[in-house]
Amino acid sequence: LYRKAAAPTSGSFLLLGPSGAGKTALFTLLESKSSRLEKSTKPTHISQTSSSTTINLSPTIPIASNRYRSINDPSLSEASKIPVTYHLRDTPGHGKLRELQGISQLRAMLHPKKSKSGMRGVIFVVDAASLSEQNEALRDAASYLHDVLLILQKRALNNGKPSSKIAAEVAVLVAANKQDLFTALPPGSVRDKLELEIDRIRKSRGKGLMDSSVNPGGSDEEDILGGDDGHGMFSFKSLAGEVGVQVDVIGGAVKSDKEADVGAGVRRWEEWLGMCL
Ligand code: GTP
Ligand code: MG
Repeated sequence: LYRKAAAPTSGSFLLLGPSGAGKTALFTLLESKSSRLEKSTKPTHISQTSSSTTINLSPTIPIASNRYRSINDPSLSEASKIPVTYHLRDTPGHGKLRELQGISQLRAMLHPKKSKSGMRGVIFVVDAASLSEQNEALRDAASYLHDVLLILQKRALNNGKPSSKIAAEVAVLVAANKQDLFTALPPGSVRDKLELEIDRIRKSRGKGLMDSSVNPGGSDEEDILGGDDGHGMFSFKSLAGEVGVQVDVIGGAVKSDKEADVGAGVRRWEEWLGMCL
């Protein structure tokens, strides 16, 4: 039996975000959609380790590299039959495991020599229903996201010019999950809440660094997250303009009450993935 050699993956993505957000549920859904092996609604539980897989992007999802091909290009129809694959890594979100898992994985994947297929993006999953209930969940999500953005900022600024090409390559999707629940905040509110909370974190850390000015000669400028909107407030838009780290907040749902809808709730996230490939 002949088998075509597996095409190299087009890029890698890392799933980050607080515990219970739905990372493993999303990972499992995308994996089962890709292999068409089984129904996607496997129960998940708190993850303690990371896992990774290779996924075929649904053929109906456009990829960014297609944009540069002419519609008249005869190779297009042929080329679009080759499945576009990407590498996806799930990480545990529990606060005690972040430094050793999610954050370490992020650093490793950003390392130019380490990653075989290029790191394209972070999918930061949040439970949009939990953010409306308790402030603790918001603080937790925002501080994790803040740390992730700071790592991406440092990398972007180390590449030289803030707008250098390499810096723009790692994008962040904030997946405002669980939109099937009526208690879920719409993506716009998720963005506003996260921006406000990140602003607080950024200011208090900035103050902390100023106070500890005993620190001789060590300009800690780059330890403070940028993205000031000109009125002293943090915004994702300003972060993109200033540092070149793009953050998109898009709503969706891994789960659906209607069996036939399973998978439809993640379509816009897959489109985001496609745009990074
Ligand atoms: P950790 O492994 O602890 O970091 O959590 P996780 O982000 O992997 O969360 P997980 O995927 O285990 O999901 C947590 C719970 O949320 C599970 O009970 C899921 O079934 C549920 N869940 C995930 N996505 C959705 C969704 O879109 N809607 C609803 N209603 N529940 C969801
Ligand atoms: Mg998990």
